[in-house]
Amino acid sequence: MTTVKYSLDQFSSDMEGLISGKPDQQKLFDTGSSWLEKLIQDPNAIPEQYRSPVGKGSRPNHGSYALYQGDSGLLVTAVVWGPGDHASPHDHGTWGMIGVMDNALTETRFRRVDDRTKEGFATLEKDRTSQFKPGEITLLIPEVDEIHQMDNFTGRPTVEIHVYGDDLRGLNRSRYNLETGEITPFATDKYDNC
Ligand SMILES: [Fe+2]
Repeated sequence: MTTVKYSLDQFSSDMEGLISGKPDQQKLFDTGSSWLEKLIQDPNAIPEQYRSPVGKGSRPNHGSYALYQGDSGLLVTAVVWGPGDHASPHDHGTWGMIGVMDNALTETRFRRVDDRTKEGFATLEKDRTSQFKPGEITLLIPEVDEIHQMDNFTGRPTVEIHVYGDDLRGLNRSRYNLETGEITPFATDKYDNC
C-alpha cells in the first residue's frame, strides 16, 4: 500500500487554518505555496481517476475535477491537460496557486496595457512564457498578474493542482482574443466529477 506523506485532507485543513487567520497576500502565497509544494510531490495524494483527461464530452482531452470546497470559499481542483490541450488567455477573479504534479505545462502571461475605456475590448501584451515542471508553482494575483494562456506541448497528460480563494463557478470571468482585442465574459459551469 502506498503511504502518502502529505494528504489532500491535510493540505485543505492547513489552508483553511491559514485563511481563517486573514493573512496578507504575501503570507497567504508564501505559506500556501510551501504546502502546495509538499502536496504535489506525490501524485498518489489524489485519486487516480482525477489524473487523466475525462475522455468524453465536449472537451475529451481535458479534465477538471473538484477535490475540496470549503465554506471559506477555498477550492482545490485537479486539472488535467492532454497532449495538445490549450486554454486561450483568460482571467480568474480570485487569487490562485497552480502546482504541477506530473509532466509539464507551458504558461504564457499577459499584461493588460489599454486604458480600459473601450467597453468589451482590451489590449494585451505578452509578458513571459514559462514551462512548469513537477513541484513548480505559478501564482495568480488578481488584477495584477493573472491573465494567462495554458498549453500542453508534450506528448502525454499533465496533472496540476489548482487552489483558488473562491468557487470559480460563481465568478464572472473574461476570455481575451489576442487578434481582435475582444473580451468574452464566461463562467465556469461545472467540474467533470460533479
Ligand atoms: Fe487559468
